[in-house]
Amino acid sequence: MTQTSLRKTFFLETQGCQMNEYDSKVMTDILNIELGLSETKDSKNASLLIVNTCSIREKSQEKVFSLLGVWKKIKEKNPNVIIGVTGCVASQEGDLIRKRAPYVDIVLGPQSIHRLPNIIKKIKSKEEKNIIDIDFSVIEKFDSIKFKTDSKISEFITIMEGCSKYCSYCVVPYTRGTEVSRSLNSILKEAKFFISNGAKELVLLGQNVNAYNYKSSNEICDFGLLLFYISQLSNLKRIRYTTSHPNNFSASVYKAYQHIPKLVNHLHLPIQSGSDKILASMKRGYTVIEYKSVIKKLLEIRPSMTFSSDFIVGFPGETDDDFQKTLDIIEEINFDVSYSFVYSKRPGTPATYYKDNVEDVVKKKRLHKLQDLLNKKLDTRLKNMQGSTQRILVEGVSKKGDNLLTGRTENNTVVNFKGKCNSIGNIVDVRITDKSKNTLKGEII
Ligand code: 5AD
Ligand code: SF4
Repeated sequence: MTQTSLRKTFFLETQGCQMNEYDSKVMTDILNIELGLSETKDSKNASLLIVNTCSIREKSQEKVFSLLGVWKKIKEKNPNVIIGVTGCVASQEGDLIRKRAPYVDIVLGPQSIHRLPNIIKKIKSKEEKNIIDIDFSVIEKFDSIKFKTDSKISEFITIMEGCSKYCSYCVVPYTRGTEVSRSLNSILKEAKFFISNGAKELVLLGQNVNAYNYKSSNEICDFGLLLFYISQLSNLKRIRYTTSHPNNFSASVYKAYQHIPKLVNHLHLPIQSGSDKILASMKRGYTVIEYKSVIKKLLEIRPSMTFSSDFIVGFPGETDDDFQKTLDIIEEINFDVSYSFVYSKRPGTPATYYKDNVEDVVKKKRLHKLQDLLNKKLDTRLKNMQGSTQRILVEGVSKKGDNLLTGRTENNTVVNFKGKCNSIGNIVDVRITDKSKNTLKGEII
């Protein structure tokens, strides 16, 4: 292993949500363009090791420290290796990282990642030893994004950062800051770049994308209008977005569902609980009826729309009856593929002061019961899709081999089918012939 090969590569591990995946891509491009570093999958050969972290639950946070333990040994062998921690754990636990892992050189919050090349230069020139930067300079971050040259068929694009909802259990407003909308120009520029490099689907990202509200001295744009602008980009075939909040479904968003066929017939809309009492103590800002009225209005516009959701079980004060209400709403709305979690106490959030009176075994039992129900619902939906014809955006060659292609239905289900590579990037009609646990098989019509 020569010193040169060490100097020119970096290893980046991404934990957590799609926003982190997007940020990791921004870092990959900026390290490549500004420092000439290329990514390696072999951490032992890299001169720079970065972990882009998530602190939404305690478990995610612990993963960071066990990885840092492994990297400590790499650095002991080669002290020139630079170790960086970015993302939400960096933002929230800078001091803890210092204490538990003093060999870490760089701690950068999600809104400071664009400063990485300069910081690396300073550390290399020994101008500074350890750097912690956890500012919330969101606009500066978006202005500094450097575009790379290759695009996937489906690309993520962050349209807003942070959250101002302050749900009582959630760290996001403290780690990513309050809501800030990226400028319309900057979003459209990146979207056009992705499309001109082959992207056919854009997934708009943000903690609450439908709270998007960009204002400048000469323009104002809300989420519905943004969807409209994006839908006008030629060669773009599909638009998805995640995550949204039930309280930000304005008239312009419903209008988007009426007038934009590129907007898929599927929505991820976190409900968290089916009990009004728990929703109030989570400070979600809506009741079950209000949540259902959003779904009802969307179904009036798009009768075949499907929904997925996020659930937290074992929130302080959740009784069997409250939990049953969550199961009832799953039955009623027919959610299937969804994310469900046991409540995890996050430092600095109001819910840490609530009396956590649900026993661990009960929490686990509830989680299993909820996940069993979601799996049963998924199984039924996949069975019902057999024999139907689905519009699939072909994303590439399937990892399953056998000359199979892979793509997704509008409701985000993966379908594998035989076909020619020249259909990659196109929307094709596929008849569903079979199912496995989470995916479908089919044949091109
Ligand atoms: N404990 C458990 N789950 C949480 N989530 C957010 N904060 C917590 C927490 N403290 C879940 C919510 C949210 C998803 C991204 O993570 O369901 O929608
Ligand atoms: Fe967290 Fe609530 Fe904001 Fe979602 S809406 S990011 S759960 S505070």
